[in-house]
Amino acid sequence: MRNHVYFFDTTLRDGEQSPGATMNLQEKLALAGQMEKLGVDVIEAGFPASSPGDFEAVNTIAARIRGLQVAGLARCLAEDIDRCWEAVKVGENPRIHIFLATSPLHMKHKLRKNPEDVIKMVEDGVKRCVSHTGNVEFSAEDASRSERDFLCRVVETAIRAGARVINLPDTVGYAQPEEFAALVRYVIENTLQSDKAIFSVHCHNDLGLGVANTLAALRVGARQAEVTLNGIGERAGNASLEEVSMALSVRRDYYGLTHNIVTEQLYPSCRMLSMTIGRPIPGHKAIVGENAFAHESGVHQDGMLKNRETYEIMTPQSVGRTESRLVIGKHSGRNAVRSKFESMGFKLDETEVNVLFEAVKKLAERKKTLHDDDLMALVHEEIYRMPDRYRLRHVSVQSSDAEGVPPTAAVIMDVDGQEKRGAGFGAGPVDALFNVIAGIVGRETELEQYSINAVTGGTDALGEVTVRLNAGDCTATGRGAHPDILVASARAYVNALNSLVKLEAEKRKKF
Ligand code: KIV
Ligand code: ZN
Repeated sequence: MRNHVYFFDTTLRDGEQSPGATMNLQEKLALAGQMEKLGVDVIEAGFPASSPGDFEAVNTIAARIRGLQVAGLARCLAEDIDRCWEAVKVGENPRIHIFLATSPLHMKHKLRKNPEDVIKMVEDGVKRCVSHTGNVEFSAEDASRSERDFLCRVVETAIRAGARVINLPDTVGYAQPEEFAALVRYVIENTLQSDKAIFSVHCHNDLGLGVANTLAALRVGARQAEVTLNGIGERAGNASLEEVSMALSVRRDYYGLTHNIVTEQLYPSCRMLSMTIGRPIPGHKAIVGENAFAHESGVHQDGMLKNRETYEIMTPQSVGRTESRLVIGKHSGRNAVRSKFESMGFKLDETEVNVLFEAVKKLAERKKTLHDDDLMALVHEEIYRMPDRYRLRHVSVQSSDAEGVPPTAAVIMDVDGQEKRGAGFGAGPVDALFNVIAGIVGRETELEQYSINAVTGGTDALGEVTVRLNAGDCTATGRGAHPDILVASARAYVNALNSLVKLEAEKRKKF
């Protein structure tokens, strides 16, 4: 299809390289399931040779997710390629995605290879992939800073060796839209047999141009966009899926390009990611931010009342910003709870439905109206938590502004199944809580981030706390949600400690 754009989502690979965005297997599986609903064509589920955890995630996603292609990333090395194939081969239409740097800077300083060696590595690497599958993508890393004619030689080599998707990344977010479009056009026009491959782009956002560069490349013939939800990714992130797809939909008159993205699933997908990594979507974020459809000024409100199109170029409904009609509260039955979560995209087994049913009842005792966001927070709280080494049972916290009477906290928790108790002081109630928990588990960590976000409006809103802890060379994020923000804080802290333990174990296993 000449005028069709394929969406390749790399939230689970490049996105996960964003500091603090580590996800566990359950979370990755849930997101991959959501991406299927979203209509993504290919998901890059990870980099199998990088760690046993990544291998397991790619392998499990390839085995369980249907209706889209699952890709794994590999360097241009035989061991990486074989390991990648091992992970993805159970998939419906598995893809191997290999990359090698082609810019003078990367070849000289990073690879320490001369251009002829690089050409040979591309040929051998792609051929090795083709010995496993015909679904091979080759990326010329740092393409935007590569010499044009050398880039064409590399691309021609990859196509001759059997690659069917050629990706030209703006790896460091350096390119400008017109310049990048000119490069993509040049490579397509000056590479022999370029018609045998689909051209793809992967644009980083270091100068805030990831989306602009992607769209500029699509205008001149690229037909695959590599993107992430909420634009997360290495450093300043990648081009965002929601922005690229909505630009193509809203300005179909300009681009004349179709795609498979179900735009009504954009908000649920971005929100799910934000919950998963514990990073709220900024209010002013295009398409999915809280304010993206809010009209504040009187003149705008007046215009909107007369005709929405005066200030709205797309409807909130078109990007999925509607609460579904099934209202869940304390009188809801198990079936209603099940169908509500199903309508929100969660596939749950019987045990999970039971856990959520109890959690919904408990929450509804404290909070009159449960919004979709509250329910989504419950899923993350109750279902997608890491298997816990540390388990919080009870906390009791006392605030104080009296001189000489510091805030105090008492905590009961399980450590490896054994009940432990502790109490202590702190500069504030959160500090007191964290000191006591750290004392019970007997480890020192550095608190890198503490943030709190009200999931929905009102004083009875769920407080969602995100905590990032650092110990040595490991950083882990934890989340907790509860109407009492101190309980949410303790849960987030314990969740981060559990993630840290898991990460450290994974690092020890790493090869
Ligand atoms: O930014 C980049 O160049 C990449 C490649 C591995 C595609 O992420
Ligand atoms: Zn990248």
